[in-house]
Amino acid sequence: MTDASSQPVVPETTGGPGAEWWRSAVIYQIYPRSFADASGDGIGDLPGIASRLPQIAELGVDAIWLSPFYRSPQKDAGYDVADYRDVDPIFGTLDDFDRMLETAHGLGLRVIVDLVPNHSSDQHEWFREALAAGAGSEARERYIFRDGKGSDGELPPNNWQSVFGGPAWTRVPDGQWYLHLFDTSQPDFDWNHPEVGDMFVDVLRFWLDRGVDGFRVDVAHGNAKAPGLPDVDEEKVAAGSMDSPFFGQEHVHEIYRRWHEVLDEYEGDRVLCAEAWVQPLEKMARFVRPDEMHQAFNFVYLETPWDARQLRTVIDESIEAFGAVGAPPTWVLSNHDTIRHRTRLALVPPPPHGAGIGPTSASKADPTVSLRRGRAATALMLALPGGAYVYQGEELGLPEVTAIEPEQRQDPTFARTQGELWGRDGCRVPIPWEADAPAYGFNATGESWLPQPPEWAALARDGQADVAGSTLELYRLALRLRRELGLGTGELEWLDVGSTALAFRNGRVTVVANLGHDAVDVPRGEILLTSSPLDAASLAADEVVWVRTS
Ligand code: NOJ
Repeated sequence: MTDASSQPVVPETTGGPGAEWWRSAVIYQIYPRSFADASGDGIGDLPGIASRLPQIAELGVDAIWLSPFYRSPQKDAGYDVADYRDVDPIFGTLDDFDRMLETAHGLGLRVIVDLVPNHSSDQHEWFREALAAGAGSEARERYIFRDGKGSDGELPPNNWQSVFGGPAWTRVPDGQWYLHLFDTSQPDFDWNHPEVGDMFVDVLRFWLDRGVDGFRVDVAHGNAKAPGLPDVDEEKVAAGSMDSPFFGQEHVHEIYRRWHEVLDEYEGDRVLCAEAWVQPLEKMARFVRPDEMHQAFNFVYLETPWDARQLRTVIDESIEAFGAVGAPPTWVLSNHDTIRHRTRLALVPPPPHGAGIGPTSASKADPTVSLRRGRAATALMLALPGGAYVYQGEELGLPEVTAIEPEQRQDPTFARTQGELWGRDGCRVPIPWEADAPAYGFNATGESWLPQPPEWAALARDGQADVAGSTLELYRLALRLRRELGLGTGELEWLDVGSTALAFRNGRVTVVANLGHDAVDVPRGEILLTSSPLDAASLAADEVVWVRTS
């Protein structure tokens, strides 16, 4: 096994061999609240992250992306930013950030931070100013304040609904309404106001000057709203239309063209990655045209069920759509907003979109099937050409946690829908490092902002490191081989193996995935990787193999 921590490599930041590193990079998502907690208060922090980075470098990824750690009242776990240029005390200080960045770079890991430009916290100084200044004031123009409808303005200005449930408008004491596509505590900026754009360019520079390698852009499809804020056409939506007056508006792209120019002023290969939940894939690919962003999370792939035909179609369509604009596809299976893929791909029946799962959900996943399938899905993803994201804890095979009591749930989705949607807490539970330590090594005190299930002792990292066949070792092997064999920069050529399996060549490697029940032949050659131990010369259900065939 290679020990990358003993061979620090400073990332290439000046072009040359490391140029366009993001085209094939594997980026590891750190959710700071739940990664490692040096202070012991039950919420992860930047010193905690720095202390565990050697283990992430050893995993074999190229970069880390950190979800928000900025000053925030934490109404949406930090996606409600009160100060874009400071670290929230629960996560540490700006000095802690600098130290973490230096540690990461010293280990050869690039660092991407999260940028949240669609909305701020209601505690941002601009919003507080806007509330105090009153209707008709200039201060209100940086956000989206409107008078209501009805005889007394008692009805919201339009029919938009919050992504977290309930109306997207909240009325303030003087009678006006403000727009919040997410929680009431997350007012949307008005991107028509020039100060908003200028402020975010300053924020980009603030973090670029500190040395970050790029930004993951939150709700990148949302900043621009349709002029006049027209109602959502509910009939069209019911008939399957994806058109929205607030998501995927064409003029949103102007913002990213400007940001691209800002990044270009900096040395090295700094990147922008779009969180853009838009469909079809051609529309998503518009975010990664040559003068805009570099990557866009492929959520269409993430949402595809474990089905050979559907996966083949989405892989083909993704490579084509992103390729048409000269961008790489960026594969992803899990993140802090979705049911962990180890569980999700085995849920029967599949839960309604975005509902999450909880203790009384009808959807259940058999633990054995789900682990095999989760590992198989990863082995398939990491063999594909392009970039990929890995979410903390998936390398341990963590399942979604359902045993979280209502009073322990913190995702605003749960409260705003009166518990109808379980929300995202189940994928955000602090991860286990050491089986026998307090909070499984998350900290030294045993505190944890969400409860860790007892079964996680068996999944802790120390019980998997150097253990042949463990999920952690599968990830390490896949990441090492992917790098050594150049799979991320390769090309995919399909082979025919029937309708319930997938097989393709990527360079010298043949990958076969069995998504059905019938056994599938393993091609001749040197077996490089199997997602589960092979007990026959053929692949059983939910198994993936990589074979060197030439
Ligand atoms: C997407 C983020 O990933 C999610 O966690 C957050 O709640 C919303 N955007 C709002 O910022």
